[in-house]
Amino acid sequence: MSASQTKLLENAFQEFSKASGSIISYYNVLESQIKQLRKEIEEKNGELSRAKEYLYTILNSLPVGVVVVDKESILFSNTRAEQLGPEGFIGNLNNGTHCVGELKNSKGHYRWRKEELTNGFEGKEVIVFEDITEIEKMKERLERDERLRAMGEMAARISHEIKNPLGSMELFLSMLQNGRLKKREKQYVDHVLFGVKTIDRIINNILSYTRPKTLALKPEKPSRVVEDILDFMNISMKSREIEVHLFNLYDGLCYFDPDLMKLVMMNFISNAMEAINKGGVITIEIKEKEQYALIIVRDSGAGMSEEVRKNIFNPFFTTKDKGVGLGLFIVYNIIQAHHGYIEVESAEGAGSSFFVYIPKDRT
Ligand SMILES: Nc1ncnc2c1ncn2[C@@H]1O[C@H](COP(=O)(O)OP(=O)(O)O)[C@@H](O)[C@H]1O
Ligand SMILES: [Mg+2]
Repeated sequence: MSASQTKLLENAFQEFSKASGSIISYYNVLESQIKQLRKEIEEKNGELSRAKEYLYTILNSLPVGVVVVDKESILFSNTRAEQLGPEGFIGNLNNGTHCVGELKNSKGHYRWRKEELTNGFEGKEVIVFEDITEIEKMKERLERDERLRAMGEMAARISHEIKNPLGSMELFLSMLQNGRLKKREKQYVDHVLFGVKTIDRIINNILSYTRPKTLALKPEKPSRVVEDILDFMNISMKSREIEVHLFNLYDGLCYFDPDLMKLVMMNFISNAMEAINKGGVITIEIKEKEQYALIIVRDSGAGMSEEVRKNIFNPFFTTKDKGVGLGLFIVYNIIQAHHGYIEVESAEGAGSSFFVYIPKDRT
């Protein structure tokens, strides 16, 4: 190798080691940048999964059901949606064209709203639904209270107006009865007098139960009243082959007027017996629900249509040939005076259940 060639080679080596020196230093810079980036990505991932967790926590603590669907299946459902068990009806909503609606199934009454997702999530829909069973029940109760208050007032006013002339009729009829009458005439007068007395009895009933009255409240076990009435009605239930089951899950006291409460229970049980007619079961359950003692009277009788159910507390509403239609009106007024309330579940052919809520304490 000539001297000039050796020089060239040396230069080349020097250049090479300079270049590799700078490559190494670039590599070190790159490596530390990559490390930094990796750290940032990890941090971002952490933030992302915390944000996701945060979002899910919010979604799962919502009192409404949230479900995300595509055309085929459910992609996400929050805890509330799972509790409400939407599978059955989400399928129906998924295919429909409506965006809002209401739905009733055996579990309750729901209001729902459906919206297409945007922002790159096209093809997916979010369905939000809430359970409005309690709200609907309360709405129905408020409407019923308002209607019955007006009806009660009117019934009381009319009854009051009828009472005076009726009193005179009774007086004159008694005078006639004591006068010199032929046997036939006396019979006629007896019939009229009987009718007048019946009207008077009905009117007294209306007046005594629709006027705000003072209750003789006493601390008493609800089961006592129920047991007394069951004893009292035992024979007529046996003769109709009706079985009675009493489940007492509340042994505490409750403030109520025992005589009026007996009248309430008697009405429920005689209605249940009439609905069963012959051979059936009446179940009475007493338990606690929040600040109320709850008495449930269920029967295996004929049940009632929605139309009948909505009217049963109206004065003079009856579906029976010999019914008067005042029993449940009186019951309603007594429970109302106790600051309680009544709910009814029934279906034709499937029996009826009356839920009577009475506050445990009177403040
Ligand atoms: N347990 C029951 N099962 C089915 N229907 C009932 C029951 N209780 C009440 N009803 C309905 O409510 C109506 C009103 O009852 P109520 O006020 O006691 O009057 P009445 O017994 O004189 O008809 C009844 O005629 C009946 O249609
Ligand atoms: Mg009745």
